[in-house]
Amino acid sequence: MNKIIYLDSAASALKPESVIKTEMDFLRDSYANAGRGVCARALAVDDKIANARKKVADFIGAKSPEQIVFTSGTTDGMNRILRIINDPVCDDSLKNKTIMVSDLDHHSARLPFEVLRNSIACKIVLCPLDSQYNLADADLPKSDVFVITAMSNVLGMPQDVATLISAARKKNPDVITIVDAAQFVVHKKIDVQKWNCDFMCFSAHKIGGDTGLGVMYIKNPDRWISPDKFGGGMVAGITGNAVNNNYSFQWENAPSKFEAGTLPITQIIGFPAAIDYIEKNRPNLELIKYLHDELSKNKKIKIITERDATLCTFVVEGMHVLDFGAMLGVYGVCVRVGNMCATWVHKLLGIQGSIRISVGPWNTMDEMHQVVDLINNILK
Ligand SMILES: Cc1ncc(COP(=O)(O)O)c(C=O)c1O
Repeated sequence: MNKIIYLDSAASALKPESVIKTEMDFLRDSYANAGRGVCARALAVDDKIANARKKVADFIGAKSPEQIVFTSGTTDGMNRILRIINDPVCDDSLKNKTIMVSDLDHHSARLPFEVLRNSIACKIVLCPLDSQYNLADADLPKSDVFVITAMSNVLGMPQDVATLISAARKKNPDVITIVDAAQFVVHKKIDVQKWNCDFMCFSAHKIGGDTGLGVMYIKNPDRWISPDKFGGGMVAGITGNAVNNNYSFQWENAPSKFEAGTLPITQIIGFPAAIDYIEKNRPNLELIKYLHDELSKNKKIKIITERDATLCTFVVEGMHVLDFGAMLGVYGVCVRVGNMCATWVHKLLGIQGSIRISVGPWNTMDEMHQVVDLINNILK
């Protein structure tokens, strides 16, 4: 085996040629800042950003491009949502509120709220899980905020987000619902209107877009009065008195209100090509089923994921997961090992870490044969 077999698309996807070419052409031939200039070149960049925003809105079933805020990734979006909804200016402070999270959450979805609990009196409750570790809509505790991981990065099963949100709203019609779709977006069509969520985040790099770019969908951007970041491009005007230093600020409408500073322009301009690509080339999950069937024949392997999951996650007897990952790496096979920034689900399973194989559109059955042979040889 003398070439790389990249089986870590769930961490970050390889980039389609179309994305690389679009970004290179832009950087070489038509680069300028966005939302800043009045020359034809700068206005052409503004058009490209607007087209990308519309493309994202259509991709996730949003009603309008104004609901799409560009962030630097899912982590950025999840942290920012907390600051947007914890807004004392419009009585939306999370003090004494109940936040429902779950053991499927990635650190980036749950940690911001866990840390908030230490600083203000908010309460964390857990969304129940069924026997297969899926989020269960029966007996949901009443909550003011509900963080939903649409697909765990360890277990890889799509969650029934629409049903969960409707169940949470029956308990509290005003619950703020936040969906982490970082893994879901790779495998399934997102429909934010069907989900009826208030917020949703994902990262471009997991679907073949560039790093440093994410999407934060906001259902009602006008409901959230205060921006969480300040800087260029989000101020409509500053009025007041220089003598006594007493100013008031008028913010731009969304999405500009939530996009302070220079955007990741190149990444945004390459993003429509990534969306086109993933819509036509979802990862082939027959490869995962094959891995599940073959690896489960090896008595030293304990598979954690379901056969129809989007990932194959497992532990091996008598070998630390980091050693196992390093050993595969020696043979050019790239997988993810460790706790995968998902400590809670590992605690639930009673293990410290695991080995995860994830496939992208580029992977082939021939690669799976090679990997199964290699793993069986290592574990002999
Ligand atoms: C389910 C889930 N949520 C959030 C994240 C964080 O994404 P990013 O590191 O792109 O911000 C990841 C990344 O692995 C993830 O799998």
